[in-house]
Amino acid sequence: MPCWQGGRVTNNDDLRPFLRTLPVFPDDLPAFDPDEVPDDPVSLFHEWLRHAADEGILAAHAATLATAEPGGGPAARVLILKDVDLDGWSFATHADSPKGRHLAEDDRVAMTFFWPQVGRQVRIRGRARPADHATSASDFLARPADSRVATLVGRQSQPLERPSDYAGALTEARARLTADPDLIAESWTVYVVRADSVEFWQAAHDRAHVRLRYQRADGMWTRTRLWP
Ligand SMILES: Cc1cc2nc3c(=O)[nH]c(=O)nc-3n(C[C@H](O)[C@H](O)[C@H](O)COP(=O)(O)O)c2cc1C
Repeated sequence: MPCWQGGRVTNNDDLRPFLRTLPVFPDDLPAFDPDEVPDDPVSLFHEWLRHAADEGILAAHAATLATAEPGGGPAARVLILKDVDLDGWSFATHADSPKGRHLAEDDRVAMTFFWPQVGRQVRIRGRARPADHATSASDFLARPADSRVATLVGRQSQPLERPSDYAGALTEARARLTADPDLIAESWTVYVVRADSVEFWQAAHDRAHVRLRYQRADGMWTRTRLWP
């Protein structure tokens, strides 16, 4: 039974059964054999990311990044992946944003990718460090002009009193970039997450989800199967 009335959920008696009807995974799910994996999680992550993108999953390179607010609690938000290599998983943001301030005090992070159309999740835990200035500058310069303008505005997550304030700041930033096309937003920072733990999670319809965790110890990766 539809539980939406006039496009709105009227109460939780409607919402709970509605939630139970929502599909999560498609009928066909890919296989995952944990005995046939590379020694390092980076190679396997590359395989899974490309597979997700090849399946047409939107924002396959988007992840939820959790940080710890010093003296506060955890905070999470979605970010775009910039690179993955043996140094780690890279993302970019403003160093003076809330998440940037968290990282300056506590570099521990969790990063989660979820690809529902293939029933896969990758869970990464590690420490984030800022890349060198040249890496951040080249990431900024590789962005489309409109993104650079928006980034130059800065003030990410600060209260916006009036929408017109933002429009004005955009106009000002656009003028600055036109006058100096090599301008770089100083706060724009690439962070690299050096993983201590990377878990690959493959859904199965019989609920025997396949989970494989790589853990780093003494510079080597070990692998462990986990109960579903
Ligand atoms: C698909 C998607 C991609 C995003 N990519 C980025 C990104 O790469 N960098 C970024 O700073 N914010 C990105 N955001 C916005 C963040 O989710 C968040 O709103 C913003 O960074 C402020 O977070 P903070 O207040 O915790 O610092 C993205 C949001 C979405 C939904």
